[in-house]
Amino acid sequence: MKSEISIHSVWKIFGGSPSDVIHQLRKGADPEQLHQQLGARAALQDVCLDIREGEIFVVMGLSGSGKSTLLRLLNGLIRPSAGDVFVQGRSLAGLTPSELAEVRRRQMAMVFQSFALFPHRSVLDNAAFGLEVAGVPRRVRQSRAIEALERVGLGQELRKRPAQLSGGMQQRVGLARALALDPPILLMDEAFSALDPLIRVDMQNLLLDLQAEQRRTVVFITHDLDEAIRIGDRIALMQGGRLLQCDTAQTLLHQPASEEVRRFFRDVDVASVQTVDRVATPTNRELVLEHGAPRPERSQNTLYVVNSERRFLGIVTAQKGWLDASETTVLQSGTRVKDAIQSVALCSDPVPVLDSEQRLIGVISAQQLLRSMEGFGS
Ligand SMILES: Nc1ncnc2c1ncn2[C@@H]1O[C@H](COP(=O)(O)OP(=O)(O)OP(=O)(O)O)[C@@H](O)[C@H]1O
Ligand SMILES: [Mg+2]
Repeated sequence: MKSEISIHSVWKIFGGSPSDVIHQLRKGADPEQLHQQLGARAALQDVCLDIREGEIFVVMGLSGSGKSTLLRLLNGLIRPSAGDVFVQGRSLAGLTPSELAEVRRRQMAMVFQSFALFPHRSVLDNAAFGLEVAGVPRRVRQSRAIEALERVGLGQELRKRPAQLSGGMQQRVGLARALALDPPILLMDEAFSALDPLIRVDMQNLLLDLQAEQRRTVVFITHDLDEAIRIGDRIALMQGGRLLQCDTAQTLLHQPASEEVRRFFRDVDVASVQTVDRVATPTNRELVLEHGAPRPERSQNTLYVVNSERRFLGIVTAQKGWLDASETTVLQSGTRVKDAIQSVALCSDPVPVLDSEQRLIGVISAQQLLRSMEGFGS
């Protein structure tokens, strides 16, 4: 997959003499001590990241870990003390302020935690605001804003003022304003953090739906691990300005690079991270049906039938006989364990798990599923 944003050994020091501070940190100085002695704050230390085209990339860390600083570097609002950021292969370091503004306008849109709506403007005019700044003619910007508002479920609220909407709806306006710009990159800083938990999940789902329709590169900042796990294709874990590890939630859980990473995941609900692929086991009840061979009518023990390329064809049981793949409960690879619990619990036989080519990876029983959910994080 192509890299959309590339962060090369970026440092950001606030206060003090940045190059001195970097030099000392490289030699192993204690950041807290440098802060006390020199008043310098190392917001980012030697961060390297590649954000891929079309992924939801989550930056996750506690307050003060450097997340917002990282985002501001991506859109060029602040410049690194050392290192460089590349957007679609273009170095931001070499750009003039007006070129930077151009990159920001053409390539990215931002959604803020505070919604940042104008109280005296209508929903429609708020959603059209980014286009207005970009100098798009009124009729065009209105039709694009309406389209974006319809997409986020606000097609009926065009004339209202922000104060007449709930928090969740206001953030939909914020999202529509960004979408109306149709940017390849969407930057979201704690965009859902001010919302009630249920509304927040609605917004996460909306973002996932939007992403399924039209893949953008989304950089999503949060300090909430559940949110990171729910929406992130990959997660960058930050602590004290340093990148601890960047990977899928699965890998962070199963192969933490350090004790710090393990600590983040200690209290996590394993079923919400673990996918069925890891739990599925090969079955000895597999029957390979060669091309043209007759289908078995019935079998004393349930059999999982595949063709010679291991594509899943169906199952054959004692009670119901032959069942086509389309009539059988199956799980797709990548399904989270928590989303599989119901289907596995309702089936008397272990449920087949298939890869994206419909090949049989293995099967999962209710017992296996339960076992996978206990005894983690020790
Ligand atoms: N303009 C600034 N001047 C001085 N220090 C700053 C500035 N911006 C950020 N910092 C410091 O850099 C560190 C990282 O800040 P940043 O805002 O990036 O953290 P964050 O992870 O976004 O935190 P939060 O979750 O609270 O938003 C903090 O110690 C902060 O105080
Ligand atoms: Mg922040």
